[in-house]
Parts: sequence; C-alpha cells; structure tokens
Amino acid sequence: MDKKKIFITSQIPEVGINLMIKKGFQIDIFKGKNQIKSDELIKRAKDSSALITLLSDIVDKEIIDHLSKTKIIANYAAGFNNIDIEYARQKGIIVTNTPDVLTESTADLTLALILACSRRIYEGIELVKKRKFKGWAPKLLLGKELNNKTVGIIGMGRIGYAVAKRVRAFGCNIIYFSNNRNLVAEKAADAKKVSLSELMKRSDIISIHVPLNDKTKNLINKEKLELMKKDAIIINTARGEVIDEKYLIDMLKNKRIFSAGFDVYQNEPQINPELLKLENVIALPHIGSATFEARNKMSELVAKNVIAVLSGKRPITPVN
Ligand code: DGY
Repeated sequence: MDKKKIFITSQIPEVGINLMIKKGFQIDIFKGKNQIKSDELIKRAKDSSALITLLSDIVDKEIIDHLSKTKIIANYAAGFNNIDIEYARQKGIIVTNTPDVLTESTADLTLALILACSRRIYEGIELVKKRKFKGWAPKLLLGKELNNKTVGIIGMGRIGYAVAKRVRAFGCNIIYFSNNRNLVAEKAADAKKVSLSELMKRSDIISIHVPLNDKTKNLINKEKLELMKKDAIIINTARGEVIDEKYLIDMLKNKRIFSAGFDVYQNEPQINPELLKLENVIALPHIGSATFEARNKMSELVAKNVIAVLSGKRPITPVN
C-alpha cells in the first residue's frame, strides 16, 4: 500500500519530522530559500493526506479547493488567521494550531520589548556602536522604571496572562480588556477587567495579545490610539493588523507617545519604511516563538496532530 504523504511548506525542527517518519508516513518538504508560492504549494500538496503550514502561508479557498485528499492542515503557529478555517471545515478538513507550547517564549519576548522600550535599549546600543558615547551624563537616555506602572493587557488569554505574571514581578499594576473575565489572572496577578477605552486611557504600557479575526482587525484604531497617555508605550507581539499601524507611526513621529515595540506588522514581511526611521521604535522580525524550546515543541505538536488525524483519532489542538 502507498504510504500516506505529508507535505511541509518549510523545514521545521527534526523532532516532529522524525515522529512522522517513524509512523511510516512519506514526508515531502519544500526546501526553497524563499517562501513557497501558491502554485508550488498546490502542486506539492494536492496528493497529500496532511499539509503542514507556516503562519506566512495563505491557505485560502482556492488552495483548499485543490486539497481533495487532505485530512488535516496543521499550522506551525498559535495563530491561524492565514487559513480559511470555515471553508476547510466545510470541505471536511481539520485545522490545528500550536497553542500553549509557545506561551512562555512569546511572553519573554514581550517583556524584552517592554524593558527595551522603557529603558531605550536600542538607542543606547546605537549610541555605543556609532561611537557617540562621550561618557556618563545625568540626562543621557532617560527612560522609565516599571515599578508602579499600569500595564494594560489587551487579550487576557494564555500569553496575556504569562505577560501579566512577569510584569507583576516588576511591581506593575495590571488592567485588562478581554471577551471573558480571567479569574486566574485576577486572583494571581490582581488584574482588573476594564473597557478597551479605559485601558487605553489609563495604561502606561499597553501590550496586545489577541488573535487576529474579524472582531480584532483594526481593534486599536485611530480613536483608541488617540486615548493613550502622551508618555505611553505600546507593544505588539500578536498580529500587525490589530492596530492602525499608519496612524500609530504618525503618533510616534510626532512624539505623541513615548515609544513602541513591534514584533509583527501589517503586510509582513514588508515593513513600512517610515517606521524604520523612528528612534522611538524597536522593530523585531516576528520572533515571538523563536526559542529552541518553543520551536521544538511546536514541531512535536504539529506532528502529533497529523499522526492523530491520519490514524483516525481526534486531533489534540483543533481550531475548526
Ligand atoms: C504564532 O505562533 O502565532 C506567533 O505569532 C509566533 O510568534
């Protein structure tokens, strides 16, 4: 009997691939230098029983229409806004993601951005590297300490809560906006649920942790951004489309807020050149989950989801 084929759109850590090989599946991996194009994806995936995708692979109706043999699309990411999950469901294809395993890594990176923005780390590095450091000075690169600051967390899910715990240890007070109350965060981190407008008005630091969907697209629009304190910091490690990026860049240009830390952008991997000119911006290349620990666990989890579905069992982390 022919082996069932699994197509992976990019090289992922071996641990998951080895699990699937051990189970006797045939693995095909796209090894191109750049991201796979949709026609190549269709060509390689159309006879596959499973498709493993990255968050940058757009799996829309057109692609799904070609996946007549596919039982599962396993996204190598917690987010799954790149996949038309409703259409996949209609076509009987299960979609899975990799939640939990990247929570701590993404929260660590968020904290790194919070600290880097508060203490102007990027400007400090640039000053030293460009040999402009002329000695200790009373007003050189003054930043803000975290103690007693109010951190507003937008989306108190797993990652939001992991960030709340971390900033709590730095002496911050936590307010949050979320669909549901998070009683664990309220108890363990003394977090208070507020409206989005109140959060935008009261927070010294705002951190975004909502998934991207129809409800959260442009959630932090011009009106909401306008509510921010004039020395506030905003951090986005979720998805670029959640914020009105263009308006935020204007605010940063006009020093309407203190600074911003970005790990995600609208139109990734293209980045608005205006954003890159700004000193009060720290811009990272979407590395929230980029730790050895998280990426290995993500690889294992996508593999376990694929193995489960192709063996006729229930997926571990389905989203549709
Ligand atoms: C995800 O997995 O959705 C994250 O964006 C990774 O950083």
